[in-house]
Amino acid sequence: MTGLATAAERSAFIDKLPKAELHLHIEGSLEPELMFALAQRNGVQIPFASVEEVQAAYNFSNLQDFLDIYYQGMAVLIEEQDFYDLTMAYLQRAKADNVRHVEIFFDPQGHTERGVAFATVINGISRALAAGERDLGISYRLIMCFLRHLSEENALATLAEAKPFLERIHGVGLDSSELGHPPGKFTNVFAQARDLGLKLVAHAGEEGPPEYVYEALDILKIDRIDHGNRALEDTALVKRLVDNGMCLTVCPLSNLKLCVVDDIHDHPLKRMLDHGLKATVNADDPSYFGGYVNDNYRAVAEALDLSKDELILLAQNSFIGSFLEDSDKQRHLAAVDAYAG
Ligand code: ADE
Ligand code: ZN
Repeated sequence: MTGLATAAERSAFIDKLPKAELHLHIEGSLEPELMFALAQRNGVQIPFASVEEVQAAYNFSNLQDFLDIYYQGMAVLIEEQDFYDLTMAYLQRAKADNVRHVEIFFDPQGHTERGVAFATVINGISRALAAGERDLGISYRLIMCFLRHLSEENALATLAEAKPFLERIHGVGLDSSELGHPPGKFTNVFAQARDLGLKLVAHAGEEGPPEYVYEALDILKIDRIDHGNRALEDTALVKRLVDNGMCLTVCPLSNLKLCVVDDIHDHPLKRMLDHGLKATVNADDPSYFGGYVNDNYRAVAEALDLSKDELILLAQNSFIGSFLEDSDKQRHLAAVDAYAG
């Protein structure tokens, strides 16, 4: 295939491009229709009368605005089957976008603090992930996030609660309200997770300053950065991330909806690639931000006039930055090469 001359050609190229998704909060894939169905199934009241009313509420001016609604939405998830249905709906959507491998986050504290057992959550999610691998051919890793607005003691208790399930948990992450909750607040729980052999990621530099990215690297010793946009404000930090081949899981439509960028045309993704950063494209919370992974690719491809080579690089980065075994990475990279022609 030669260059991609039109938006339609780009879109068609993106549709079939083999890719991995590395930044996806499973609770953020709860579509309004499923929210209503689960509210009815479980007899849970939600403060919306219709799907349209839900969508109208998804107007955010910052991360906290979104999180307030996101935690409310989770209230409909009660039974193991709810977590299964949520996860399976995402995997089917991912399959349609030719996603070959997913690394998904879940927020156990968002459920256990409502009285839903840790086992209920993880059993539903992991049963769907196993079915997705078997029936849809999508491999996976599962990453348990700690909510950074809660205490480190709470995170430590969550890690202790996760111990019987560690065969099904591949890594830990850090999400929720970034400002005022620097990575250093979670030094001990990340050290314990590291000792348990878990992979480590953290949201850093989404709203928070470059210092938070340094802390995630130096104190938490993370393997991958979620977002990382504000790292671009610090030249020495960019050089360090490039030199270390550190992967950034970038979420363009999320950044737009949460006002991390004012205009998609100003999104830093292309600058990240130009610097040599290992940036990837991801949906974050697709049902809240108006698009799944291919919608994110399309939005930046158009706004930033990304070339075919840049789209291929993004897909390659998604496998290189994943927690797959090297042999699996090579197999997926060969599939990208074959598709690129
Ligand atoms: N939880 C779900 N989505 C998030 C995001 N984009 N940033 C921080 N925490 C989150
Ligand atoms: Zn996120």
